[in-house]
Amino acid sequence: MKRKAAMSETFTLPSFAKINWTLRVLGKRPDGFHELCTVFQTVTLSDSISFSPSETVSLTIDVPSVPTDDSNLIIKAAKLLAAEAGIEAGAAIGLEKRIPSPGGLGGGSSNAAVALLGLSRLWDIRPAPEDLLKMATALGSDVPFFLMGGTALGTGRGEKLEALDEIEEPLMAVVTPRFGISTAEAFSGLNAENLTTSALESNLVICRRDAENLGIRQEDLVNDFETSVLVKEPEIAEIKRVLKENGARVAQMSGSGASVFAVFDKEETRQTTLEALNEFNWRMFAVATLSRSSYREALNPCHSLLPISF
Ligand code: C5P
Repeated sequence: MKRKAAMSETFTLPSFAKINWTLRVLGKRPDGFHELCTVFQTVTLSDSISFSPSETVSLTIDVPSVPTDDSNLIIKAAKLLAAEAGIEAGAAIGLEKRIPSPGGLGGGSSNAAVALLGLSRLWDIRPAPEDLLKMATALGSDVPFFLMGGTALGTGRGEKLEALDEIEEPLMAVVTPRFGISTAEAFSGLNAENLTTSALESNLVICRRDAENLGIRQEDLVNDFETSVLVKEPEIAEIKRVLKENGARVAQMSGSGASVFAVFDKEETRQTTLEALNEFNWRMFAVATLSRSSYREALNPCHSLLPISF
């Protein structure tokens, strides 16, 4: 017989978005995934997830476009966590969605990681950090990053993480067109090669060195999805163009798209740019980078579950 979980009171946690400062796809692996080298960064744009005691697991979302069924990573996370802990447990989960999804901003992955943390608290269980990381990896390639936050190098599928010196950019924007891009399709559109182990290792050495010396200048930032995605979706190139024309220092696609992030040097330029973008039918957010320590603090009282080292 499975033990019934103890339940805490209702509480709410933020679920932050990420951008990829740079994203290199190094090659295709025999398992169908791609070998990546990316610099992840948490930003201040966030969803909010509430957790309440309940006999069964249920999910409500304030927008109709995101599914609430078993395909939602929050439900997958809840089932996986209960199974791993060997408990019978329910939760009434409420998601307030602000992060465009899909959008290349890791919204679903972030929600999954926060669900693992929030439900551990609700059910009064303390999974070991390495077990949390394993569950996160099983849920999706970007999920482990959301147990870390800040600025981090991701390799492998994106799940092997190393802390990097924090990048601080207080004046940023995220702009998302009204359509979404399927991550799986974006990967298959790359026609990436199968790599030998030695080619992969030498590419990783170069990529790590670049990541450690990354400047937030347009010429330093690369997203290997841009060439193929921008050909299919010229509106993303249009977003980049309008941002740059209005004075953004950097305008770059995040993840497999379709969101573009921008970095500004002056608040005034950011303001006028966001005003200029009003005439287009795009979603816009003024954001800033979120450091690892602020990320952990925001997840209080669940932050003590987060792995300390990677
Ligand atoms: O890991 P996740 O479920 O988020 O990945 C979604 C899809 O993106 C995968 O099914 C795969 O097609 C593709 N992917 C990939 N290589 C990665 C990460 C994702 O090919 N490193």
